[in-house]
Amino acid sequence: MTNADLEKLVDTSDEWITSRTGIKARRIAPADVAPTDMAVKASEKAMEMAGCAKEDIELIITATVTPDRRLPSNSCILQDKLGLVNAAAFDIVAACNGFINGLSISQAYIENGQYKKILLIGVEKLSSITNYTDRNTCVLFGDGAGAVVIEASDNGSGIQSTFMKSDGTAQKWLWIDVGSAANPYQFGVDHKGQDKILMSGADIFKVAVKEMGNAINKVLDDAGLTGSDISLFVPHQANIRIIEAMARRLKLSMDNVFLNIEDYGNTSAASVPIALDEANRSGRLKPGDNVVMVAFGGGLVWGSALVRW
Ligand code: ACO
Repeated sequence: MTNADLEKLVDTSDEWITSRTGIKARRIAPADVAPTDMAVKASEKAMEMAGCAKEDIELIITATVTPDRRLPSNSCILQDKLGLVNAAAFDIVAACNGFINGLSISQAYIENGQYKKILLIGVEKLSSITNYTDRNTCVLFGDGAGAVVIEASDNGSGIQSTFMKSDGTAQKWLWIDVGSAANPYQFGVDHKGQDKILMSGADIFKVAVKEMGNAINKVLDDAGLTGSDISLFVPHQANIRIIEAMARRLKLSMDNVFLNIEDYGNTSAASVPIALDEANRSGRLKPGDNVVMVAFGGGLVWGSALVRW
C-alpha cells in the first residue's frame, strides 16, 4: 500500500507521510493470509539459512500482538503447520519490543541449557487492527514476519547482553480499548474505532527517542563497549525522525544505522527481525561484527540486545 493509495482513503499526502515518518509504502497481507502463514515462510527461510532440521527445534517463541486467534497461541499453530514435533511453544505480547524480549528469553534458556535450538519469530498483521479512517495511525503500520534460529556457540559469537524495561502507567498511549475480556465487543454496537489501534503519537515519539538511547547505552556499558565498537545498529522501524533523533543524541553516524522503513512502515514485532534479515542477506553483517538491536512500543515496553555476529 503506497502513500498514493492512502491519499485515497484519508486526508493526507505523500509529502506529509514521507517528511514526517520516512515511509513510502507498507505491505498489507490479503484477507486469507493469517499471521502464521507469514511466519511459516520466515521460519522456513531462517531454518534453511541455519541448516537446522525441523526435529531439532526444541522451543518456538512468537512475538506478536496480532495472533491468528486468541486461543491457541500462534506458536502452537505454527508448530502444527511446520511439523516441529519436538518443540515447546508459546507467544509473548510485547508490541514492537517483542522480538527483543524473545532474544532475552532465548539467551537465558540457551545459557542455562534447557533448550538447544530455539525458533524465534516476530510477526504482525497490523492491518487487522488498523483504523483506515484515522490518518494519525493508518499511514504508519504494515504487515510482515521475520525469524531467527538461536543456538549455543563456542566461539564467543551470539547474544552478549540484553535489556528490557516497561512503563505500564502510559498503557493508553498505544492501546486497543474494545474487543477483549475487559471490554468485549457488543453485538450491533458501532465501536467507533475503539477496537483498533489508538495512539498518542507525539507522547510516544519523545519517550522513544530518550529510552531507546538509554537502552543502547545500557547494553554497551554491560559489555564494556562504546558506540564506535558497533558495526551496525538495527532499530525498530517506527519513524525515521525517531531513529535520526536517537542517533543524534548518541552521536552515532547514520551510516551505521540500518533503515528499511521506507518500504515497510512499522511492522511492530516483525520490524527488527525483518531489518536484521535484510542487513544480513545484503552482506552488511560480517563474522565478529557487533550489532545492537533496539526497540520501543506499546505497553510501554522497550529494550535492546547486543549480538556478536
Ligand atoms: N496526514 C496529514 N496530516 C496528519 C497526518 C497525516 N497522515 N497525521 C496527523 N496529521 C496532522 C495532525 O492532525 C496534526 O494536525 P493539527 O496540528 O491540525 O492537529 C499535525 O499533522 C501534526 O501532528 P503531530 O502529531 O504533531 O505530528 P508528529 O510530527 O508528531 O508526527 C507521528 C506524527 C508520525 C505519529 C509521530 O508522532 C510518531 O511517529 N510518533 C511515534 C509513533 C510510534 O512510533 N508509534 C508506534 C510505537 S510502536 C508499537 O508499539 C506498534
